[in-house]
Amino acid sequence: MTQPRIPHHVAIVMDGNGRWATRRYLPRVAGHKKGMDTLRACLRHCGERGIKVLTVFAFSSENWSRPADEVSGLMELLAVALAREIPQLRGEGVRVQFVGDRAPLSEKVRAGLAQAEADTASNNRLVFNVCFNYGGRWDIAQAAAKLAERGEPITEKSLGAALALAHVPDPDLIIRTGGEERLSNFLLWQAAYAELFFSERLWPEFDAAALDEALAAYASRERRYGMTSEQVAAPATPADRKAA
Ligand code: FPP
Repeated sequence: MTQPRIPHHVAIVMDGNGRWATRRYLPRVAGHKKGMDTLRACLRHCGERGIKVLTVFAFSSENWSRPADEVSGLMELLAVALAREIPQLRGEGVRVQFVGDRAPLSEKVRAGLAQAEADTASNNRLVFNVCFNYGGRWDIAQAAAKLAERGEPITEKSLGAALALAHVPDPDLIIRTGGEERLSNFLLWQAAYAELFFSERLWPEFDAAALDEALAAYASRERRYGMTSEQVAAPATPADRKAA
């Protein structure tokens, strides 16, 4: 039996934690805590399925405008995750990378992020990118600013290389849970050719079967990158390209 096509890089907008909690008369932060359990299970499942890169949207540049207790709850979750999860991830061959603007984070959190990255730097089974205080527009702007500062020409290649996610290939599959169908400033540049999958499930309910459903949908899609179906089915050989 042939193996289904597995995406190399999966990215997820983990939406629906707040609704999950509110429906249970719980504070929104309880939804984020439950979302953390889902994330842990999802990461394991990605590893088992042979996915090499998982990128998640944990805190957006816009999330600062949420109620203060929710923002501090998310910061606390991050601190707890660093202390509790990193030793485990280190043992499982996961390389953790934080992607986003660290400047507004506390000195203690910044040190924790750097330590987690250093502790897992030599791992290569799966790269786990946690987008924290991240926005797609922020990333494109910071990349352009970096090039301008160095006096380098701005091309697709140079800009792509200056982005915060330049250490991994673009996502093949972007999943959004929670029933909304938009990117919300996630991976704007990198989403150019990604397959999109929207799930009605709230993130805390996105289990292994739901992930498999998204992977099955991905495996059934044809990715054409601007070519025709015929070209995708029979890619041009170097000789064809010479003759053209
Ligand atoms: C969106 O749901 C979710 C977030 C803003 C946070 C996602 C965070 C986690 C899953 C926990 C992992 C966190 C860290 C710090 C590693 P929402 O609150 O917008 O849901 P709603 O649309 O139902 O209100």
